[in-house]
Amino acid sequence: MLLSLTRPAKLWVINLRNIRSYHIAKKKIIKDEHYIAKHIFQKIKAKGPITVAEYMKQVLTNTVAGYYMRKDMFGETGDFVTSPEITQMFGEMIAVWFLNEWQKMGSPKPFQIVELGPGRGTLSNDILKVFNHFKSLHKASLHLIEISPTLSDIQAELLCRANFCDENAAAYKKGISHNGVPVHWYKRLNDVPNNFTLFIAHEFFDALPIHKFHRKYNGYKEVLIDVDISNPKSNEHKFKYVLARNHTPMSKVLIKPNESREHVETSPDSILIYKEICERIKLSGGIALICDYGHDGSGTDTFRAFKDHKQVDPLEMPGSADLTADVDFSLIREAANEVGGIISLGPTTQKNFLLKTGLEYRFKSLAQNIKNKKQLENLKECFKFLTDEDKMGERFKFCALFPETVKKILDRYPVIGFS
Ligand SMILES: C[S@@+](CC[C@H](N)C(=O)[O-])C[C@H]1O[C@@H](n2cnc3c(N)ncnc32)[C@H](O)[C@@H]1O
Repeated sequence: MLLSLTRPAKLWVINLRNIRSYHIAKKKIIKDEHYIAKHIFQKIKAKGPITVAEYMKQVLTNTVAGYYMRKDMFGETGDFVTSPEITQMFGEMIAVWFLNEWQKMGSPKPFQIVELGPGRGTLSNDILKVFNHFKSLHKASLHLIEISPTLSDIQAELLCRANFCDENAAAYKKGISHNGVPVHWYKRLNDVPNNFTLFIAHEFFDALPIHKFHRKYNGYKEVLIDVDISNPKSNEHKFKYVLARNHTPMSKVLIKPNESREHVETSPDSILIYKEICERIKLSGGIALICDYGHDGSGTDTFRAFKDHKQVDPLEMPGSADLTADVDFSLIREAANEVGGIISLGPTTQKNFLLKTGLEYRFKSLAQNIKNKKQLENLKECFKFLTDEDKMGERFKFCALFPETVKKILDRYPVIGFS
């Protein structure tokens, strides 16, 4: 999640005029910014220190007041901006990549696009537009994994000409996109039908809970969060890190025997989803593209928070800032190996992926048609922001998963951006 550039609005015309939405009553979302702090404080007082994973889960996705549940946090007025929000070129490159790889497999139909954590829905919207442009939406459907009712409303407004909700169904919201594609919303991947799928996850896994460990003389201890009552007069809800005295269940399961890093962060929730994606691709066919900031198994202490485009203390005012940790891409490869029958490619850098997929050509073709100097400057800035090594070009990584059954095709026509 990076800073203060906005999508060049005039380059991308979104027609919101014909939207009709049907809503049913939803669980009340509490807007009190202190609710989460009070809730976690009371929980720790009653039961003792909690894991960082439990803390993240409460802060981000607590059903009544979690950070993601109650507001639109994207863009200049929010806390961070993501690549799809910066420029349409990002989603277009992802779409072109998928189209190309899907066509190499013989364009299997019916097919579904599954986006995990769609934010404002911008990336899915851009992908549908490109598929539509190439007349490739026949027998397609879009399935969104979104836990936030607030964001699912924003996605439906952008993507659909009509939508309705059924909170008791696995697909809690359904709609029809502007280009006629059925769109379904779920809270969990397990509920999505198992068909040939193009999976896309952009800045999703960095938002999933992590467990943190610290190496001490006698092995790894889990980092926990406790209440901080060092100032008894203060009525603020303060928190601090502590180390578990004994081994926790997670420190026994998640630390590998050959681990040597001083700080280790790992996300069992992410590992389960990597495996689920691999199982599905193996069983029903498909392709997955996972894009996020992260490392290849060497990252250490990356748990952090963002508020108003600035990095802040993750324990300060929980619920008011986004929490995130770098994605460990080596765990995707391990999940693929464990499931078997999967080709795992990458991680490669965002710069490499986008340039090899043709970002520069797209940039030049858009630039040719822009007469306004300011808009042209804006487009150039977006291009640089996505690809510069000191901006998003290097820190953001892409990883792709394919079923081993297409190995011969990929040997002959290597996967773009990963060769
Ligand atoms: C950082 S945003 C990324 C948004 C979008 N992909 C983009 O790049 O602009 C994370 C997204 O994942 C969703 N999310 C976070 N935790 C989730 C969970 N446990 N299950 C489903 N969705 C989740 C959030 O509500 C949000 O839509």
